[in-house]
Amino acid sequence: MSRKSIGSFLWDLWCIVSIIGIWPRFIEPALLRGKKLKILSKKVKSPIKIAFFSDLHWNRSQSSAMLNKLVKKTDDFDPDYLFLGGDFLCEAELFDKEKLTNYLCRFKAKKGCFAILGNHDYDKPLSINENGDYDVTSKGAPLNKIITRLFKSTRLTGKTTERAQNLKPHPELLNLLKMTPFECLNNQTQETDEINIVGLGEYMASQANPEKAYQGYNPEKEGVVLVHNPDMIPHLLNFPGCLFLSGHTHGGQVNLPWIWRRLTAMEDSRFKSGEVQLQEKMAFVSRGVGSLIPFRWFASPEVVFVEISPDV
Ligand SMILES: [Fe+2]
Repeated sequence: MSRKSIGSFLWDLWCIVSIIGIWPRFIEPALLRGKKLKILSKKVKSPIKIAFFSDLHWNRSQSSAMLNKLVKKTDDFDPDYLFLGGDFLCEAELFDKEKLTNYLCRFKAKKGCFAILGNHDYDKPLSINENGDYDVTSKGAPLNKIITRLFKSTRLTGKTTERAQNLKPHPELLNLLKMTPFECLNNQTQETDEINIVGLGEYMASQANPEKAYQGYNPEKEGVVLVHNPDMIPHLLNFPGCLFLSGHTHGGQVNLPWIWRRLTAMEDSRFKSGEVQLQEKMAFVSRGVGSLIPFRWFASPEVVFVEISPDV
């Protein structure tokens, strides 16, 4: 190989490595897109502004630029309500409690902040075992887990093992949330002056209980339903409310053909990301703002700004 061609080869290699590594590792996880969503409802009398984000996945390698942008964007929107759709943590690990508390205390909304738990917010890690069941899984080595998923396809059974059903919400996280503006709704409805806010328990732990969650729902008012895993949504279609807000999928995270399906185990691939119209109801699945491994491709972090206006 001539000297010129070696230089050319190294240059090409550098370009390829840069494209493959720098963008998804260092640039895209720090980008934050704002998504606007407009909904009409006959049950609201004046416009309601809701900011929603999901999958914070608090960890030590998070982009502080993205975290600061998230606070600024929600502040700029000046929402009536702020909702957080679960997965505060990574694999049930609560790092830097004080820092997380201080961060969550930076958020505000005129009429309240509400949150639900995700599969990472229980007392042990809750994921998918080799049989495709929802199960308590081992902690750590997320890169190994991702590589295993890439090369071994696992078909979901939709079943939850007994030990996963017995998981409890992360006790320290629940205590921490009491010191923040966020009220945790775990199979509960909060009725406000204008709407019902329904928060479901976690689907993968088989702890989403709609009969309990919708108790106290006022049918005279509109409803917004927070449900971490969108695979729960088809089970909720006979219950009231115009809008489901979900996360969990990270929009496929590495959103390339074939790869996202291997990395993002779902029962219903309609709910990978974005809007899904379900007769008269709408579901919106957010790409979330964080991840276990800061690596995203064509699935940048996202905060959603919803306006529910009177349908006159
Ligand atoms: Fe999740």
